[in-house]
Amino acid sequence: MRIEVISADITALQADAVVVNLFEGVKTPGGATAAMDRALDGAITRLIEHGEIKGKLGEITIIHSLGKIPARIVAVVGLGKQAEFSLDKLRNISGEFCRHLRKLNCQRVATIVHGAGAGGFEPTAASQVIAEGSLLGLYRFRKYTTKESEDKEIEELLLVERDTEKLEQLRLGCQRGRILAEATNLARDWINEPANYMTPTELAKRAQELASVYNLDITIFEREQMEAEGMGALLGVARGSQQPPKLIVLSYRGDKDSTTSIGFLGKGITFDSGGISIKPSEGMGEMKGDMAGAAAVIAAMAAIAQLKPKVNVTAIAPATENMPSGNAFKPGDILKAANGKTIEIETTDAEGRLILADALSYAVKLKLSPLIDIATLTGACRVALGNICSGLFGNSKELIERVLEAASDAGERLWQMPMYEEYKEQNKSDVADIKNSGGRWAGAITAAQFLAEFVGNTPWVHIDIAGTSFREKESGYQPKGATGVGVRTLVNFALKSAVGT
Ligand code: BES
Ligand code: MN
Ligand code: ZN
Repeated sequence: MRIEVISADITALQADAVVVNLFEGVKTPGGATAAMDRALDGAITRLIEHGEIKGKLGEITIIHSLGKIPARIVAVVGLGKQAEFSLDKLRNISGEFCRHLRKLNCQRVATIVHGAGAGGFEPTAASQVIAEGSLLGLYRFRKYTTKESEDKEIEELLLVERDTEKLEQLRLGCQRGRILAEATNLARDWINEPANYMTPTELAKRAQELASVYNLDITIFEREQMEAEGMGALLGVARGSQQPPKLIVLSYRGDKDSTTSIGFLGKGITFDSGGISIKPSEGMGEMKGDMAGAAAVIAAMAAIAQLKPKVNVTAIAPATENMPSGNAFKPGDILKAANGKTIEIETTDAEGRLILADALSYAVKLKLSPLIDIATLTGACRVALGNICSGLFGNSKELIERVLEAASDAGERLWQMPMYEEYKEQNKSDVADIKNSGGRWAGAITAAQFLAEFVGNTPWVHIDIAGTSFREKESGYQPKGATGVGVRTLVNFALKSAVGT
């Protein structure tokens, strides 16, 4: 979809649909909505009087112009209570009205820049979330459906603004929104891809393609290099699979004067059957998305490479399947991680923390700092927070604050969980340094405490996206399936960490 910013009179525009808005409780619309109301001979005010348009958040009223203006449809979107309006609400509404208009066979859609007037938003911020929300909301994964969709794609979205002084800022915002949304959609594509195609080898191949497009440094570790690095935990998980494991290391160097680099790490289990501790078959297919963390860190690099912050970032994604077989690792086995720690396997289904243990050890060896890992790590986190918030854990207050801020700008909700020492008790093993499961209670926290053993003193944050990486129902800018959660938080974090910001 093309997105363009133009200066025009919305009542005279050639388009399939024009989108205007109304805050809840407003009886006499102002600005662009008022101009549209006049062009439609008062149709909008009449619908307000009749109580058909209330301005409630997410309400979409379709008015057919019947030749009164060149556009076929006028859509009035409700923005909710003015005092409660936010950029994230605008992001969601944009996804919503775009999907609605696609169903109504609109290929050319024009919208006013909601929130830039009475909403009081900066033009760049408002246009960014409109572009971002639209592209995110319109996403669909149709790669394997041979029948064409009934709903054609929207080809063009026009952001219309009368004030020519604002156009440049609006364009800048759109560009940023597009970069963020496209990176998120890239992650979604990879996560939605079934596991028979999205193998560790395929993931590495896609990372390689991305690296060559954006000129990033890339190294892919094969089994031999993992052995040389002593990555016994990753290799242990990989043993049951016919697919060779890969460890993807991607780096962006935006600050050549500095020798330090941020480290992003993502869990890349391309299919989690549970291994010998096999999962129940119901819902197991969802475990093709157990590489959502890896997809997020790699896709984030695409956006970072385009936005060019003055900072260095290295993304590390350990990738393997977790499968049962005669050669698979077993409960009771003891594995040795790259930092020398021994791990007793309580269950082969707690594999994410194992592959991350090696990846984190390697990140520490590379002296990356701070570290942020993102993983579909525990069902317990999903039980605790549902699909609304991701779990946030860490060993540094300051870093946690910075990550929370980056997430808030992205409209991605994070909820900080406790990391009291006492929880570590559950991870104690009688035969090794640590065991890979602390049992049912506080499962998300004991998993985070396990990871903490592999970061040493490096400032580190862990984001558990088991509940938020996948959606069964569409809403706002989130379609069904993979959400691509984390991408925009990571990109924002890199932007905020740049020298001079
Ligand atoms: N990949 C799963 C976690 C998960 C569950 C992600 C649901 C997305 C949706 C992870 O590898 C896992 O199996 N975790 C176990 C750990 C337990 C055995 C200690 C879990 O949460 O049940
Ligand atoms: Mn598992
Ligand atoms: Zn898993």
